[in-house]
Amino acid sequence: MTDKRTALVSGNWKMHENHFEALKLVQELAALVRAAALPEGREVSIHPPFTSIRTVQTAVETDHLPIALGAQNCHHEDRGAFTGEVSAEMLAKLNVAYVITGHSERRTHCGETDVDVRRKVDAILAHGMHPVICVGETLDERVAGDAAHRVREQVSAALSGRSGEVVGGVVVAYEPIWAIGTGETASVDDAEQMCATIREEVGRLAGAGAAAAVRVQYGGSVTPESAGALLAAPNVDGLLVGGASLDAERFVAIVRARA
Ligand code: 13P
Repeated sequence: MTDKRTALVSGNWKMHENHFEALKLVQELAALVRAAALPEGREVSIHPPFTSIRTVQTAVETDHLPIALGAQNCHHEDRGAFTGEVSAEMLAKLNVAYVITGHSERRTHCGETDVDVRRKVDAILAHGMHPVICVGETLDERVAGDAAHRVREQVSAALSGRSGEVVGGVVVAYEPIWAIGTGETASVDDAEQMCATIREEVGRLAGAGAAAAVRVQYGGSVTPESAGALLAAPNVDGLLVGGASLDAERFVAIVRARA
């Protein structure tokens, strides 16, 4: 791999920030992002809760901020009797570019399966957006030596049978469950090794072109202190940031971290 792909640094706000708080946070981000150009080869997305997306969209578009709009989930159908759900079609209308899918919190708390995630990926792609497909092993799976197998299984369930061109445009986020919200970041070596495994699996499923183009993020307790070394790893093409993305200064420090 010669040239590194454009790194995508994404802020997953999870269930934080009502629309007033979201506006304040995006204004703080705007001031920091405008202060100096973003580093070369780096892209940013923010993923507010559904109720704040429209507010954030207006702020980002009005101020022409170099920040892409993201969502945290969607339903696989465009419309119908699905009380409480939001469709990919609705998100596309808000100019959402990236939709997180299969986050471990949804797999754990909402019972989402690999089959559900695949259907959501279908819907996200059908509406011209990029899925950010979250994969990752539990601590038990890691201890048992099953981490790579489980991660390959999740990648394959979401991406098998798709064209190289389509697969090259997706983002896969490697988020080891034991590292999320625990303060325990994976070591750079562990992150690099699993991101390389994911790229290899993408190559097996969709060819060398897709493997070279697909972006693989690392997520799990990323901080301004750990970001630079992670971004420097050859197979890590960005970061999916939870807690630290709720603090504008910390998030922009991660965005600007030197690889
Ligand atoms: P933390 O950065 O809070 O560990 O969250 C990671 C995550 O789940 C991002 O999607």
